[in-house]
Amino acid sequence: MKEVFDFNAVIYRLDEKKLVLLDQTLLPTEERFIEISSEDSLIEAIKSLRVRGAPAIGIAGAFGMAMLIENYSALSFLGLYNEFKRLKNALIKSRPTAVNLSNNLCRMERVILELKEEELYKIKMRLLEEASIIRDEDIAANVKMAEYGLEYIQPGSAVMTYCNAGHLAVSKYGTALSPIYLAHEKGYDITVYVCETRPFLQGSRLTAYELMKAGVRTVLICDNMAASVLSHGEVSLFVTGCDRIALNGDTANKIGTSTVSICAAHYGVPHVVIGPESTIDRKCETGNDIEIEYRRGDEITDMWFNRTMAPENTEVSNPAFDVTSSNLISAIITENGVYKYPYNFKRND
Ligand code: MRU
Repeated sequence: MKEVFDFNAVIYRLDEKKLVLLDQTLLPTEERFIEISSEDSLIEAIKSLRVRGAPAIGIAGAFGMAMLIENYSALSFLGLYNEFKRLKNALIKSRPTAVNLSNNLCRMERVILELKEEELYKIKMRLLEEASIIRDEDIAANVKMAEYGLEYIQPGSAVMTYCNAGHLAVSKYGTALSPIYLAHEKGYDITVYVCETRPFLQGSRLTAYELMKAGVRTVLICDNMAASVLSHGEVSLFVTGCDRIALNGDTANKIGTSTVSICAAHYGVPHVVIGPESTIDRKCETGNDIEIEYRRGDEITDMWFNRTMAPENTEVSNPAFDVTSSNLISAIITENGVYKYPYNFKRND
């Protein structure tokens, strides 16, 4: 697959030992990279969605952890390991729904424990190597998912997507958007209907931005227009990413995904979810076990407006994710292939 962009959202500068993130809160009007060098700045960047999208959060967390541990002067294995566990807990709490961050940090913990007899500098080097492997595996997974996903896209067709599951949300290319980029590369002439994705507007600010940069025909709609657009019969696929998939296929993704999924089912449009195997939570039986992150109310009332858009002191509920029932999802695509409903992912214990 050809390179689509000349930048990545998460970069680790080995020579400078610095994590560099494209600040996604400033897009689409400003492209600014920020340097992360402390625990506080890493957690702030994740919490405030400067880096966002389940795989990108996981990769930033893995490199951030390796960087912080490298800078930590421990005298013993136990000292180093205790610091790792403290950081791991703090990072996982920063965005609880997307599972990739916690999966990656558990994977790095296994590396530390395997090396407990080694010198500390070797453990530090291995953690950095593991973070690079996680990033490289993510790139390879996205290429595979693009290939599997292509069978759902016909030349000249229109697809709908929600939130941002593209290049900005991963290492490279995207999950839901990767087959779109591959189709575009093959000259398919496709149209993507992008739901703006209230309240954080990842659809209009990020998905429209990256699709248009790549030269894909993009039509932006408000979230409440989805049913109407789907009813016209032009859209043949609803494709999204995922933040956590339960063993039965119930899938958490950005709030509002389930609304569009229900509408898509009503109009006979298949909903295909695309995400790496690391998004499957093999301890989670159903969507009821997925913790949903709640965020500040002013993201709804104030953040995007010059004036407050609700009466003062309005009680606000701001869940960031919802769960789409597995029976609404026609297929779940990972780097290992295409799973079809009914889903029965295996526990790993
Ligand atoms: O709050 P966000 O922007 O991190 O939410 C992102 C999504 O819901 C994405 O669809 C999901 O993380 C998949 S990204 C490949």
